[in-house]
Amino acid sequence: MTSKELRAKYLNFFKTRNHKVIDPAPLVLEKDPTTLFTSSGMQPLIPYLMGKKHPKGKRLVDSQPSFRAEDMDEVGDNRHTTMFEMLGNWSLGDYFKKEQLKWFWMFLTEELRFDTAKLYVSVFEGNEFVEKDEETLSIWKSLGVVEDHIYFYGVEKNWWSRSGTPDQMPVGEIGGPDSEVFYDFGTPHNSRFGDKCHPNCDCGRFSEIGNSVFIQYKKVGDGQFEKLPQQNVDFGGGLERLVGATFNTPDVFQTDLFIPIIERLEEQTGKKYQKDDNFTNIFRIASDHIKAATFLIKSGILPSNKLQGYVLRRLLRRTAVKLTQVGFDPVLILPKLVDPAIDIYQGTDYFKTGDWDSIRQVIEDELKKFQQTLKKGLKEVEKLQEINGKIAFDLYQTYGFPWELTEELFDKKGQNIDKIQFEEEFEKHRELSRTASAGTFKGGLAGHSEAEIKYHTATHLLHQALRDILGPKVFQNGSNINQERLRFDFSFDRKMTDEEIKQVEDLINQKIKEDLRVDHKTVPIEDARKLGAIGLFDEKYGKDVSIYAVGPNYHLDPGAKDQRDRGGYYSLEFCGGPHVAHTGEIGGVKITKEEAISQGIRRIRAELISVEQTRMLC
Ligand code: SER
Repeated sequence: MTSKELRAKYLNFFKTRNHKVIDPAPLVLEKDPTTLFTSSGMQPLIPYLMGKKHPKGKRLVDSQPSFRAEDMDEVGDNRHTTMFEMLGNWSLGDYFKKEQLKWFWMFLTEELRFDTAKLYVSVFEGNEFVEKDEETLSIWKSLGVVEDHIYFYGVEKNWWSRSGTPDQMPVGEIGGPDSEVFYDFGTPHNSRFGDKCHPNCDCGRFSEIGNSVFIQYKKVGDGQFEKLPQQNVDFGGGLERLVGATFNTPDVFQTDLFIPIIERLEEQTGKKYQKDDNFTNIFRIASDHIKAATFLIKSGILPSNKLQGYVLRRLLRRTAVKLTQVGFDPVLILPKLVDPAIDIYQGTDYFKTGDWDSIRQVIEDELKKFQQTLKKGLKEVEKLQEINGKIAFDLYQTYGFPWELTEELFDKKGQNIDKIQFEEEFEKHRELSRTASAGTFKGGLAGHSEAEIKYHTATHLLHQALRDILGPKVFQNGSNINQERLRFDFSFDRKMTDEEIKQVEDLINQKIKEDLRVDHKTVPIEDARKLGAIGLFDEKYGKDVSIYAVGPNYHLDPGAKDQRDRGGYYSLEFCGGPHVAHTGEIGGVKITKEEAISQGIRRIRAELISVEQTRMLC
């Protein structure tokens, strides 16, 4: 079965069960500071899983391109990829375990015609805070899954939240037990991965092909979980693995989602994917990383040393080093993989329009730059008299020199490097980046705390107040919120006077005093534009956009001439929320600093104050 057929079959299966198909979200969610990339289908749906009403109803289905930077170092085996497509279906407080498990089972056994003897399932075994998932167990049994195909696992494997196990979840985060289905490829067990094989074993015999998460809890404190007002289903299944299973191959690179890129690599190198051992691994890395880079560049990301741009740079450098090591020129080969990567998605919306030349050019330019860096690095290496594991790691960090390359250089000089020291440094660094990305998550999730929600709405008021006092040239350039303050960057070409700062502050506090209603709508992008919604907005948004309006009795009328005519709302912004329900909840706001951060860009910091303090201020 081709990937196109499988994708269509899945969407159709759920459509006939009253699900509405939703557009995939962009790979970088501009309004979600909690994470660098869209890494699962549920991520853009978090507000709805938490209780907000979705405009398309309670049953949703989609196919979501996703990217997981944290899996980059795993790519090279037969099933890990950074870029993948996640088939997803959701119940937002509608159906629950019984329907979900039955439907997915039907999809696998009737639509894809998988042999039940090859399917295994897992169930949450419970822990001290959350009970064992007996209900799921009995549903699987009622569907005919035999006992020795049912495995129990703890929170490490059968609990799902964006930030991991229950203890890693920040307060406010949602999650729940899950149940996975695995496909058994029947390959022999490799004892390197443990004495006994089981569905979650890493030996490659089993592949996880779907995960039904029952998002029913919200963390409310250390070890404390509260049932959400609605019981949700969040299903995700990797298209690549499902297609692989239909061909009975555990190697996702042997599916139509990769074959055209692998073939182009074979053509360019004269090597064979499966015959030339060393190349199997390199071809997997190159095909995944260039496909991912193509998606990322299409999403507007450029290589840089920060955030998403840094991840893109790492993808390209890792691939370049691998090819260089085996004697090929990455600049000549890698940009040629962009076309087959795009062709794979013909017929989908992912690459309907776009400037393919520039994608190729970005990749080529970055690779050329990297070749210069590598050359410089090699010169540095030549000068080094001595080497140890730490220096080897620095070379890896600075010039992207992989361990093998450094070892081989120094081997010629008759010097051995302490690999354990290198690995220790490597592990330290990995730990640091894990903490950093957990921080990114936490930062945003903490954004659901009471103080941060208030700051969020206060930011909208500040934005509009600045435009009222300083004029419509003022436009948001960035914003950052934590529990202690808000920070807002905006375009303006001079220092604000004390008088202006006071006017802005007074205006915000006036709007807080008026206790305006804050409302949310999802509207077609054209309507949002016509209404004059402001905020950070670009074409990375989907067709329908989420907007927040602050104001009494407002109604959204795209035909209205100016915002005062449009029902009297005070501010209207593109935004994913969350926000307070009424501005009065904010209490009051004090601007604590106004400064320049670059040519034409100013930064304001402001803090929440109490109603009493506000009275003294005005
Ligand atoms: N959120 C779950 C996952 O990413 C299922 O969609 O695996």
